[in-house]
Amino acid sequence: MVPIESYIKRRQQLASQMQKGVAIIPTSPERVRNRDCNHPYRFDSYFYYLTGFDEPDAVFVMILGDDINETKSILFCQDKDMEHEIWNGFRYGPESAKEFFSIDEAYSISSVDEVLPKLLAGHSRIYYSLGQDDAWDLRFTGWLNQVREKSRSGLSTPAEIYDSRILLDEMRLFKGTEELQLMRRAAKISSRAHCRAMQVTHPGMKEYEVEAEFLYEFRKHGAEAPAYTPIVAGGANACVLHYVKNSMELKSGDLVLIDAGCELNGYAADITRTFPVNGKFSSVQKDVYQLVLSAQSAAINTVQPGNSWDMPHTAALEVLVQGFIDMGLCQGSVDSVIESEDYRRFYMHRTGHWLGLDVHDVGEYKQDEKWRLFDSGMALTVEPGCYIRPAENVPEHFWNIGVRIEDDVIVTNTGCEVLTASAPKSVNEIEELMR
Ligand code: GLY
Ligand code: MN
Ligand code: MN
Repeated sequence: MVPIESYIKRRQQLASQMQKGVAIIPTSPERVRNRDCNHPYRFDSYFYYLTGFDEPDAVFVMILGDDINETKSILFCQDKDMEHEIWNGFRYGPESAKEFFSIDEAYSISSVDEVLPKLLAGHSRIYYSLGQDDAWDLRFTGWLNQVREKSRSGLSTPAEIYDSRILLDEMRLFKGTEELQLMRRAAKISSRAHCRAMQVTHPGMKEYEVEAEFLYEFRKHGAEAPAYTPIVAGGANACVLHYVKNSMELKSGDLVLIDAGCELNGYAADITRTFPVNGKFSSVQKDVYQLVLSAQSAAINTVQPGNSWDMPHTAALEVLVQGFIDMGLCQGSVDSVIESEDYRRFYMHRTGHWLGLDVHDVGEYKQDEKWRLFDSGMALTVEPGCYIRPAENVPEHFWNIGVRIEDDVIVTNTGCEVLTASAPKSVNEIEELMR
């Protein structure tokens, strides 16, 4: 876990951007998987970012008075309950949570419907993320209505609801030192898992057997879970962008595309590697692979402070399109193929996304209608690909080749740091590791 002082700083940073008012940040509810079994619990990223508290059924509240020195942090959380803890494990309870997480006041979640409306009364502005969760939205409107009902006794109802995400997304976009350390570790664990996959994969194995190696490596090294459902896609399956069945046999002569990364203390890694099931690229596989690798290298070179968000995508696209033309997959000039979007038959996604507590992390991609500029502390993926489905106008030897190469990168003061560099990606490195 990130030191408590960092959470305190984040709360101060939030307060410094608020006007007088109340911020309400609930955590995620538990979700039923089937009958009386829940999905493994995952906290809300905003809530966790401000508190470090990972229990369900909790709300964080931040009140800002007339000036910044009048701030108060409040946590509503589950009570201690020995009977419940015998079955389901430890709970902090309000008293210990207040101490451990350095929160000013803590109350039982069972009192939230009674206490929160009183806290809202007299404030004109509420910071809340409407539309994120229907059940919390309903409770939120209930709290506001309770205040309205008191208006005859002179209490004013908050008039303005400001989306808390506007402040928090911008904070989360710039990672602090401890966050970067966690992201480096998540990237390292995930890179090791990709190495292991290259070492164990052989023809006749099932995709799910390779997936199992990832789950093993993630848990073995302390990651909570995969950051998203792993994709292990052999042969034609690599051309299905969100293939997650992972149920087929891996065949000699095919490539396998693996998109898998772990979540560590809430922080995601997101890596894709593509390699030959039998350990040796065929000539045409190598051509497509080298093209994607060159596109990725061109894209990574543009990740530096001052460059715009669009530059990695544009750089990758130009290399890919030139390659598509050289290989006879597209006709015309680079500009005309980009203009007509004919390349989208083989490359239909963008080249990356912000990365952090969420695998597709928060943060605006544009500011004032312009692509935003990279700045140190931002974290993103760089993930060009090429997916060639069978089609009449595509030479048959290309059919069913799907390649993506994805790395995690942070912007530094002078350029960038590739967090996932220890997962091999040159043809030689991969063939060497698989031998
Ligand atoms: N693994 C999700 C993505 O690459 O965006
Ligand atoms: Mn990604
Ligand atoms: Mn990915």
